[in-house]
Amino acid sequence: MNRPGIARSWSRPDHHSLLAPDLRPTAYPARVIALDRELEEHLELTRDARLGRYLDFLRIPSISTLPEHAGDCRAAAEWLAARLTEAGVEHVAVEETGGHPIVTGDWLHAEGAPTAIVYGHYDVQPVDPLDLWESPPFEPIVKGDRVQARGAADDKGQVMIHVPAVGALIATRGSLPVNLRFVFEGEEESSSAHLDAWLEANRERLRADVAIISDTSFFDGNRPAITIGLRGIMAAQVDVAGPAVDLHSGTYGGTVENPVFALATILAALKGPDGRIRVPGFYNEVRALTELDRESMRKLPFDEAAYLELTGSPALVGEAGFSTLERRGARPTLEINGIWGGFQGDGTKTIIPAHAHAKITCRLVADQNPETIFERLRLYVEDIAPPSVLVDVKFLGGGLPSLTPIDHPATRAAARALTETFGQEPLYIREGGTIPVAASFEQILGLPVVLLGFTPPDDHAHAPNEYMNLRNYETAIRTIVRFWDELAVAGDIGSDDEAGGPRYP
Ligand code: BES
Ligand code: MN
Ligand code: MN
Repeated sequence: MNRPGIARSWSRPDHHSLLAPDLRPTAYPARVIALDRELEEHLELTRDARLGRYLDFLRIPSISTLPEHAGDCRAAAEWLAARLTEAGVEHVAVEETGGHPIVTGDWLHAEGAPTAIVYGHYDVQPVDPLDLWESPPFEPIVKGDRVQARGAADDKGQVMIHVPAVGALIATRGSLPVNLRFVFEGEEESSSAHLDAWLEANRERLRADVAIISDTSFFDGNRPAITIGLRGIMAAQVDVAGPAVDLHSGTYGGTVENPVFALATILAALKGPDGRIRVPGFYNEVRALTELDRESMRKLPFDEAAYLELTGSPALVGEAGFSTLERRGARPTLEINGIWGGFQGDGTKTIIPAHAHAKITCRLVADQNPETIFERLRLYVEDIAPPSVLVDVKFLGGGLPSLTPIDHPATRAAARALTETFGQEPLYIREGGTIPVAASFEQILGLPVVLLGFTPPDDHAHAPNEYMNLRNYETAIRTIVRFWDELAVAGDIGSDDEAGGPRYP
């Protein structure tokens, strides 16, 4: 089915050819330095086997939002559990949640050392439109430096960075420098519906000092990045009903309200010409950008013209008074993801349709709350809807925004590990996308979060021909090894004084 879903049915054009050569992912330096020799030899010897495993994972069509793939999601969970066990992780389990299972495991023998939760997701997005894929989405292919398949980047590739990293450490040293708890979920791409309840129920068991999430990208082709801001999300559907059944538009036109027209009027009133969202109270809780926030975004090596070309769109738009990077990472938005109603076939059918529908998502920033924003949207839509139609606004799910500390010792340890392995200092960026668990780790477990991701910025995630850069992949395994070594000596990373929630430098 091609029904529009929650923020998952867009596609991005293939725009590699539009990038300057030095921005192409193949230009990544991917230098590897200063790992212990035995570990590096082990990683070299196991390279082919590791790639084989990664490709096997990609063959499992674990699309979490489609009920017919529930068995595949379970198969992916079982497969991943077996790989964790093989790597030497202990107490590996496939845990029930009421939805797709969560894979857990731990290794807790580094006495006195910090404890980190490692998070990733084994579920993937749907694959439509299938005809735009150069190769079948669940038959991974390796083309030069690229692994192409659904999930190659988001997020199976990043899960399969952590598993061999810990496997190599245990195989060569017999131990890890830190304590690790693995949490790999299977519902991230469908709003992590059962995750918060599971976190609440397992709060005691999940005690840790920090959470590491590898589910984000680099900023541009040749610079590693640590993400310090993610937006939240609120998803809704508007259903407008008019006549009981479709009516002849000649017989009844001019006397009965047209629901598609009414819906268009409602949607047109959601945003002003200045790009501001007109839902009363929408911006009430929005945390203003500080001069420091703005300056750090201004300093990023962002090429506006290249970005425009990437989009394939004739022009950039958005809220007046904010730069492109601010608008996509640090300001809230309202988008219509899909709209339907009335006759869609060739030719003409003269009716007044009985109903019309739209899917809406808002990206949220600190300190907005999805439920509050939904209520305000619902009240506004009900208020502006013409009395000649019935309108129903439904909540389809949400996730909180999160800001993570740039100055936390764990973030600094990650920055050192990236610098040492990729040969360049990371950029600190804000992403427009959402990872619901980031806020949950902060708010339910009281943990600081480090968003340490490795995919190319143009990885075609959620779109046809998703890919991961293999040099990034290999270097990232070294980064993770190095990161655990750095974290072990990072000093005071205790979570006690971090429990106050997200902070920004
Ligand atoms: N890995 C992404 C989040 C992301 C997007 C990180 C862009 C960095 C850049 C994640 O898998 C995702 O797609 N999240 C969804 C969440 C939604 C379904 C609740 C999103 O942002 O649309
Ligand atoms: Mn993801
Ligand atoms: Mn995703």
